[in-house]
Amino acid sequence: MEALRIITEEHQNLWRIATTLDMVADEIDSGGHVETAFFTSLFDYIDQFMDRAHHAKEDSYLFPSLLRRAPEAAAIIERLQAEHHNGPEVLRDLRAKLAATAAGGEANAAFTAALRSYAQAVKSHVRSEEKDVMPLAREALTADDWADIDKAFLDNDDPLFGSKARAEFRELFHRIVNLAPESIGLGGHSGGALQKPIAPVGDVLLKIEGMESCYGRIKALKGIDLEVRQGELVALVGANGAGKTTFLRTLSGVQPMSAGRIIFNREDISGLRSDLRMRRGICQSPEGRQVFGPLAIEDNLRLGAYTRPKNDVEGDLERVYSMFPILKEKRHLPAGTLSGGQQQMLAIGRALMGRPKMLLLDEPSMGLAPLLVEEVFNVVKALKAQGMTIFLVEQNAFAALAIADRGYVLETGNITLTGTGQELISNEQVRAAYLGM
Ligand SMILES: Nc1ncnc2c1ncn2[C@@H]1O[C@H](COP(=O)(O)OP(=O)(O)O)[C@@H](O)[C@H]1O
Ligand SMILES: [Mg+2]
Repeated sequence: MEALRIITEEHQNLWRIATTLDMVADEIDSGGHVETAFFTSLFDYIDQFMDRAHHAKEDSYLFPSLLRRAPEAAAIIERLQAEHHNGPEVLRDLRAKLAATAAGGEANAAFTAALRSYAQAVKSHVRSEEKDVMPLAREALTADDWADIDKAFLDNDDPLFGSKARAEFRELFHRIVNLAPESIGLGGHSGGALQKPIAPVGDVLLKIEGMESCYGRIKALKGIDLEVRQGELVALVGANGAGKTTFLRTLSGVQPMSAGRIIFNREDISGLRSDLRMRRGICQSPEGRQVFGPLAIEDNLRLGAYTRPKNDVEGDLERVYSMFPILKEKRHLPAGTLSGGQQQMLAIGRALMGRPKMLLLDEPSMGLAPLLVEEVFNVVKALKAQGMTIFLVEQNAFAALAIADRGYVLETGNITLTGTGQELISNEQVRAAYLGM
């Protein structure tokens, strides 16, 4: 039932888009500017991703089998398919209303009304698929049906939704977030690029044995064993207070380790100071971003490069700027003037300035607007695709495990479960505890 997982993941995305449309509609109604470039990229995304790829997958593979096995679903499926069919026309109407907004006044009101009703329609469509269709599909379809459907959904060579198309959706989404008004996105004037090349998973890069760490007499980590391979994206998930931040701080050397061993790149670094660990390539984006507010954005980025040879810094700055153009636009401003989402990009950019061999991210999605949550995970995916080894700590277990190769579940200082991201997402215990399902 991989297909259902993929659909649910895409639904999360669509829901975020719908919520975003409501938010921008409110903003425009209270006098906000209509950002044409933003809406154009948003409509392009809906057109490419939702109307052409997401709906096509359901229409071609899921619905026909379901109709065969559960004829009673015919009415619902017919309605959903009619809505799919109607998508491009609704989108044309939205584009026309957007074009008319240049005139302002009444035209703006017609546009925001259309945005709201579209958001409403997307939400009710998603709800109906999740609540009516998917439970039925789980029940009625046979193992053979699922094998066929999953094969189609997982076909990486498919021109509409294979890996090449997905990389394009990611780029498009990245543009939307950059161009979105600052209250919900990054508020930039240009989109920037997420670069590609791909590196396979390799040798063990980090191995931790029996790590313990204490606050006074309280043991916050009670013997952690884990490993991360070259090029892997590993997630550590757990509730608030489980010890995730303590783990990252102990790994980067700013929190004392009371027992255990850390082997990084075949070297025992257990006794090394934190700056020396950073020189070895362990670079962290800390919880709560922790940018230096009074300092200019560019100087914050340079701080991340203090262990690097001077000659590398300018080139690395340009690389970070090409990924996050908003940081370039604002590079001379104090970091404290940035929005939460922009500060998160700055914190990631600063960590990248250290040229990490392994990037540590502590709850990068915390406190962000929906579009930005998605974008942070897109940025993490793009970094992984470039071959970066990433250790991602999150309370947002579903989103983190969805993109992770492997995951660990941390409960009050102990690892209680481990497996591939997908195994953990479908594990009943994890679902109950962290996914709120
Ligand atoms: N500076 C501190 N002093 C004392 N106890 C702390 C301190 N920081 C964290 N703790 C305790 O350690 C445990 C783990 O905290 P933390 O690593 O921040 O968890 P998480 O990042 O998973 O939310 C919690 O019980 C927390 O109360
Ligand atoms: Mg924490």
